[in-house]
Amino acid sequence: MTHNARYDRLSVWLHWLMAALLLAQIALGLWMLGLPKGGTGVRVYWFNVHKSIGMLLGLLIVLRLAWALARPRVAALAQARHLQLAASGAHKLLYALMLVMPLSGFFGSVFSGYPIRFFGMRLPDIAGRWDAAKELLSMVHKVSALALILLIALHVAAFAYHQLVRKEALLQRMR
Ligand code: HEM
Ligand code: HEM
Repeated sequence: MTHNARYDRLSVWLHWLMAALLLAQIALGLWMLGLPKGGTGVRVYWFNVHKSIGMLLGLLIVLRLAWALARPRVAALAQARHLQLAASGAHKLLYALMLVMPLSGFFGSVFSGYPIRFFGMRLPDIAGRWDAAKELLSMVHKVSALALILLIALHVAAFAYHQLVRKEALLQRMR
């Protein structure tokens, strides 16, 4: 089986678009929790923005995953076998978390009983309020967010190590 030396255009595009949106989404998610409840509607407004971007990310990750499985594989970097395995494991975990985040957010919101809007468009109610499910999914959303933040930090550190310390042309593979 032949392996590509670098990522194709669509993969590169999706990687950087989603990286930017994910970082903004994480910052927004953490920031909006501190907004005051009730009255002004500011909190509801930013929660709706977060839900909309989150659902967009949910659609993008489905496309990205389908493409990652369909396209030819990209060759692993020339390094020790256990590091190659660690890198591919970390990438798989990143993909998994990029799927769990929008799913837990969406279904948590469904069971909260509040209507969900996608950039202003009201979505049909697919289920009623269910507090226990909402609480569980909120917990999954929170723990996964923490795992995602740590893994992105590790990912960027690994990138810096390869690019700056080992002086490999890593960025050339993802542009
Ligand atoms: C913010 C969230 C980010 C996520 C979720 C993410 C996720 C991923 C994933 C899953 C891959 C593997 C693609 C595959 O093999 O199918 C990848 C590759 C890569 N990422 Fe990221 N990434 C993020 C941010 C960044 C940032 C900020 C940088 C650099 C500063 C970066 C640099 C790279 C590079 C260079 C590769 C290619 C590695 C190789 O050549 O094998 N990523 N990223
Ligand atoms: C990749 C997608 C997403 C990321 C990275 C993300 C990230 C975050 C982060 C970091 C927080 C703050 C920590 C916490 O308490 O959980 C948060 C909270 C929240 N997110 Fe998301 N989110 C995403 C998708 C969604 C979606 C699609 C929805 C709903 C449609 C959503 C709804 C919420 C809600 C309601 C909260 C407030 C806390 C709660 O009730 O659980 N998120 N999100």
